[in-house]
Amino acid sequence: MSFLELKDVSIGFGPVSNRYEVLQNVNLSIKENEFVAVIGFSGSGKSTLMNLLAGLEKPDKGEVLLRGQPITGPGPELGMMFQNYSLLPWMSVYENIDLAVRSARPEIARSERKDYIMHYISMVKLDHAPDKKPHELSGGMRQRASLARTLCIRPEVLLLDEPLSALDALTRSDLQDEILRIWGEDKKTVVMITNDVDEAVLMTDRIVPLTMGPAATLDTPFEVNMARPRDRYTLNNNQEFIRLKTDITSYMMGLSQEKKKAAAAKVPMPDIAPKDFSLPSKRLGFKNLQAVSPASSSKA
Ligand SMILES: Nc1ncnc2c1ncn2[C@@H]1O[C@H](COP(=O)(O)OP(=O)(O)OP(=O)(O)O)[C@@H](O)[C@H]1O
Ligand SMILES: [Mg+2]
Repeated sequence: MSFLELKDVSIGFGPVSNRYEVLQNVNLSIKENEFVAVIGFSGSGKSTLMNLLAGLEKPDKGEVLLRGQPITGPGPELGMMFQNYSLLPWMSVYENIDLAVRSARPEIARSERKDYIMHYISMVKLDHAPDKKPHELSGGMRQRASLARTLCIRPEVLLLDEPLSALDALTRSDLQDEILRIWGEDKKTVVMITNDVDEAVLMTDRIVPLTMGPAATLDTPFEVNMARPRDRYTLNNNQEFIRLKTDITSYMMGLSQEKKKAAAAKVPMPDIAPKDFSLPSKRLGFKNLQAVSPASSSKA
């Protein structure tokens, strides 16, 4: 049995008469402790897919299952890191994380809570900013605070929506290692959205492409059968890494070209051109009508 599963899932937005179909017949079966990446173009429905897995959206059709049971709403076993960070603006970094710990990990004693929270704040290198409010943080700092808030809940399933996209290369690679460590040590199941093919191949077991919307669907996954731990410094010489990167990039370029072709396809137009393109003054016979320029009108 799959651990986490999307079964023939479709979802759209808007009224029935003018529904925008975002995802159609999506099937995905994830094993326990698997690390899966979803890649796709902007607007294709990746965040919508994550919201379905987190229990924040209900499918119009099909089922979303955890251990064979329908996911009926969000819960502490499903830890979602939102693309827009979603930190509470009136609370500091510390308070945002504290709130998550109190609600999702109530068993952590009051005396241990501070150390517990600071451990996650240090992990994302925000030791210098626990008292800062979100508006006082850079985009990358907000992203790190949001990652700490998701990790501190220690959910069974980590749903990470572009978790590292706003970070500089060094911080990004540090946090890639941290996510990999947590995934390996704590035996989590991770679904991560990324637009970085190198990152996906470095980190995951399987890369699932989402086709272009509307009515996007998941296509055949690329299996990443590379031994772990994977060394980022020698990866560029690894034949399997090069092959996967080339295959995935050409697949994505193919999707983009198909979309361009579809957009450029000529639509037959009815032959209804108006007969007379002349100005109304001529058509109506106003012989002395002249264009009034701003200069002539201001003189008058
Ligand atoms: N709540 C909503 N109401 C109406 N339309 C929505 C809603 N959520 C998403 N959409 C639409 O669904 C489509 C997919 O959006 P989604 O955010 O899932 O894309 P995405 O792949 O995550 O994009 P990006 O890479 O830019 O984050 C978009 O056209 C978006 O406008
Ligand atoms: Mg998104």
